[in-house]
Amino acid sequence: MRVFLGVTGASGAPYAEGILRALVGSGAEVGVCASTAGIEVLATELYGDGSLGRDEVLGRFIAEGAGRVTVHGLDDWKSPFASGSAKVDAYVICPCSMSTVGTLAAGAMSNLIHRAASVALKERRKLVLVPRETPLSSIHLRGLATLNEAGAVILFAAPGFYHSPRSIADLVDFVVGRCLDQLGIDNTLVTRWGS
Ligand SMILES: Cc1cc2nc3c(=O)[nH]c(=O)nc-3n(C[C@H](O)[C@H](O)[C@H](O)COP(=O)(O)O)c2cc1C
Repeated sequence: MRVFLGVTGASGAPYAEGILRALVGSGAEVGVCASTAGIEVLATELYGDGSLGRDEVLGRFIAEGAGRVTVHGLDDWKSPFASGSAKVDAYVICPCSMSTVGTLAAGAMSNLIHRAASVALKERRKLVLVPRETPLSSIHLRGLATLNEAGAVILFAAPGFYHSPRSIADLVDFVVGRCLDQLGIDNTLVTRWGS
């Protein structure tokens, strides 16, 4: 399975870390692209230093990737993820900022993350967006509705509490597990209701 993972500048870096770990663990080949704000969020939320540089942050982020992860620049238009002719099974943007939601909903594409998501929609492939913002304006809500109507799955970074979480890791696993469910990847990260 080949998956694109876009990381943008919304809070929620631990979800991206968990998704990447699970994808690699499942044997997927993963292409990672992070926005400038996404790098700052990864640095702040995972490594406790928002001033770390792009190479340092991405080096740490993909360290567990064991050769299954490739990093793509924001202007890497030669990347397979920039074209519908390349075989890609699924696309995830996690976390997904409201800026990226607005851009995608407008059909604009100013970096590889936008382009990859746009390709997913036009090719009718699986696109999972994991936004985080609160409260939401009507502009945010309309953008999310537009993307949902175009085929995207809006998987809010909104962990449930009905599985009796005991730790932050349990809350992160809830969102990661629901995202993996959307990608058709078996997981036991969340105790399933009724089981
Ligand atoms: C530490 C940090 C946390 C942020 N959290 C959010 C957030 O939760 N949701 C959001 O929509 N934007 C958030 N922002 C603002 C976005 O990063 C900003 O709008 C940026 O332009 C998004 O660009 P991008 O979509 O290209 O990553 C945050 C920024 C920083 C630095």
